[in-house]
Amino acid sequence: METQIRHRLVLIPPPFQGHLTPMLQLATILHSKGFSITVAHAHFNSPDPSNHPNLSFLPLFYGLSDTHISSKNIVDITATLNTKCVSPLKELLVDQIEKANKNHEKIACIIYDGLMYSIDSVARELNLPNIVLRTTSATNLLTYHAFFQRQSSGCFPLKDSMSLELVPELEPLRFKDLPIFNSDIIQQQIAKTLAIRPSLGVIYNTVDCLEEESLYRLQQVYKVSFFPIGPLHMIAEEYSSSSTFVEQDYSCIGWLNNQETKSVLYVSLGSIASWDEKELTEVACGLANSQQNFLWVIRPGTINDVSEWVQSLKEEVKVAIAERGCIVKWAPQGEVLAHQAVGGFWSHCGWNSTLESLCEGVPIMCQPHFGDQRVNARLLSHVWKVGLEWSNVMKGDEIEGAVRRLMVNQEGKEMRQRALKLKNEIGLAVKGGSSYDALNDLVKSILSVNL
Ligand code: UDX
Repeated sequence: METQIRHRLVLIPPPFQGHLTPMLQLATILHSKGFSITVAHAHFNSPDPSNHPNLSFLPLFYGLSDTHISSKNIVDITATLNTKCVSPLKELLVDQIEKANKNHEKIACIIYDGLMYSIDSVARELNLPNIVLRTTSATNLLTYHAFFQRQSSGCFPLKDSMSLELVPELEPLRFKDLPIFNSDIIQQQIAKTLAIRPSLGVIYNTVDCLEEESLYRLQQVYKVSFFPIGPLHMIAEEYSSSSTFVEQDYSCIGWLNNQETKSVLYVSLGSIASWDEKELTEVACGLANSQQNFLWVIRPGTINDVSEWVQSLKEEVKVAIAERGCIVKWAPQGEVLAHQAVGGFWSHCGWNSTLESLCEGVPIMCQPHFGDQRVNARLLSHVWKVGLEWSNVMKGDEIEGAVRRLMVNQEGKEMRQRALKLKNEIGLAVKGGSSYDALNDLVKSILSVNL
């Protein structure tokens, strides 16, 4: 009797939280569709295999120095990774192909993050079907194209008078929402990631009902198949809990259990953006004066000693933190946003946080810090109308006003209603609509080139 060949996929994430998490979610989804999965990852910021018993993990030593890694300079780390990963990855893939042959398996496809652009040539050289995973919004990718077009016509540096003008093909985005890549190294990286032409297509962690037009326009540019199968965390039925680099503090769930419905503002800036000590103090004053309950993530490394800092605050702020606040180093964000006590999210608008909030019907007080976050914030406030645009001025009274607008005022209530409607639409897309269909198309597409 002929033994059936099993299909193995090799997934290649970069070592950054906002990218590793969706790749692991994708791995879980594709495993549930019958594929065997190997995740080839960097030896630092690596996932814990014990949290993913159905996946195989292969750590790769790309040769980055400890100083390099601890610099946390993402642009620099990405550039070095792309230079150094080619040869070890080629060796790994050749080895995987040989092993697969011996085990009645076939390497059916490699799936890599768009930041790992140099894998494009490796896949081509080894003649392996390949797919790229885009972990930001589809609209964000369009802004990269808009940047390069405008740059060649001398639009940058942007004149003050232009910054609030709408970008004609990207309305309601303004010129100031476009990414400004002001170093050669980052421009080269973005150009390389845009030049990727994967043989089987592109997976987007987005949903048709959120970004239909942007997806359509991207397809006109790339002319390859595209699979908008997001939100990945919802389809994988797995929040980032199993892949976060910092241990999650579940004590805040007990605290949330004691709060009234929709009474808590969740405050978190994701894994990279942060406030300095002066800003933290303004945040504390603003939150205290808003009279709202709050759950606040202050990541390790943001400030030396959080308890000492709290003790240094004004008496009434200290009291407010004790009576109405809960501060943790890292929260189980998925569970937090799904909790009935949470009524709003003060966020930096990273794409994962944006999707997680939309899926739970939680409106956002937007404070983008860099990159795609400005684009996501504009989509939240002006397209889906579930995000509060405010001055972003880090002064206690500005913060207090914005928090009250989101948590108490009619404006915030209307956003919450729209967010719930969007949550339902996303749920439908996942359960049998566009994302469900796109996932089936993806599976068929991988199998069709491996008959
Ligand atoms: C980075 C970029 O900053 C962002 O702009 C881009 O869209 C993705 O890559 P990051 O800053 O980490 O991401 O933000 P985000 O995309 O929101 O991802 C953060 C992840 O960490 C989320 O999945 C969130 O659930 C998780 N998280 C955050 C926790 O689990 N606990 C926390 O306390 C905070």
